[in-house]
Amino acid sequence: MAQPFDMTDRHVFVAGGSSGINLGIAHGFAAAGAAVAIASRTEARVQAAEEELRGHGASVAGFAADVRDMDRVGQVLAEAVAKFGPIDVLVSGAAGNFVAPATGISSNGFRAVVDIDLVGTFHVLRAGFEHLRKPGAVAINISAPQAVQPMALQAHVCAAKAGVDMLTRALALEWGPDGVRVNAIIPGPIEDTEGMARLAATPEAEARLKANVPLRRYGTKAEIANMALFLASPLASYVTGVVIPVDGGSTVAGTETMMQAMQASLEQAT
Ligand code: NAP
Ligand code: COA
Repeated sequence: MAQPFDMTDRHVFVAGGSSGINLGIAHGFAAAGAAVAIASRTEARVQAAEEELRGHGASVAGFAADVRDMDRVGQVLAEAVAKFGPIDVLVSGAAGNFVAPATGISSNGFRAVVDIDLVGTFHVLRAGFEHLRKPGAVAINISAPQAVQPMALQAHVCAAKAGVDMLTRALALEWGPDGVRVNAIIPGPIEDTEGMARLAATPEAEARLKANVPLRRYGTKAEIANMALFLASPLASYVTGVVIPVDGGSTVAGTETMMQAMQASLEQAT
């Protein structure tokens, strides 16, 4: 019997794949034998990530693209398909975040985050669908705890990521009849990421945050990649329209400590 996590001959496209959690997901699929394409804004970061991924012996392609530009997203998806064939797994994880009270966010600041996280995810899935449309294909969106837990200093992210969750469910409905599954992952606090560097910027904040996680630690990028591999595997063949936390139990522990960590980060920055 074929191993469920063998991704040989599968084409995996990761939007926002040049760093952090998304690059961790790209590593997971490359190590499992997939051909991996990544895209993000900055050419140099894309190239550095490509080099890392080639270390697995994988076929890798990298593209500079801003997910806010749907035409460019369509272009790079078509180029990836020309190289590796139709897409089997489409990951949408590009995001932006900063810590600010709503009264400190301009219209442009709010729009920047909604445009990257939510509209960008629509662009990736909308432009990707024609290359994905076959039974067994799967889209995986990277959401965040802010989608389900209201947080002060994160109004823009809460709004954007809640939209990502609902888009996940709506597209699961629309695309299910084609056999395409659409799911999302909510990572908890993940070590060694830009996200946590921004939200819990001091060692004290980090320690308090870890103490608030039921499993008493940050998660790893590999733990998020493992869930992505599961969702892409035949073991998840009847799973669609769900948003799955991979967070050491953080969701059940509440948000007070996270908000205190962000307040400390904000005070340190000003
Ligand atoms: P990160 O390293 O900053 O990852 C963001 C990625 O998106 C980068 O590769 C960035 O590359 C790319 N990107 C940003 N804006 C883009 C745009 N407009 N178009 C295309 N690519 C863009 O951050 P991370 O902390 O690993 O977060 C990754 C994902 O996990 C995000 O969706 C985030 O919301 C989610 N998440 C993170 C945590 C955490 O603990 N870190 C927790 C919950 C959820 P360029 O700069 O080259 O564009
Ligand atoms: N507080 C309040 N507003 C802020 C801010 C902060 N800390 N940082 C940026 N903004 C505002 C800017 O002032 C600008 O608004 P304005 O034109 O009214 O002044 C708006 O956000 C857009 O900023 P800009 O730097 O032009 O946008 P960008 O498209 O280059 O970058 C960001 C988008 C702001 C989200 C940037 O942080 C980013 O690129 N993030 C990607 C990496 C990341 O956030 N990783 C963690 C993922 S969880």
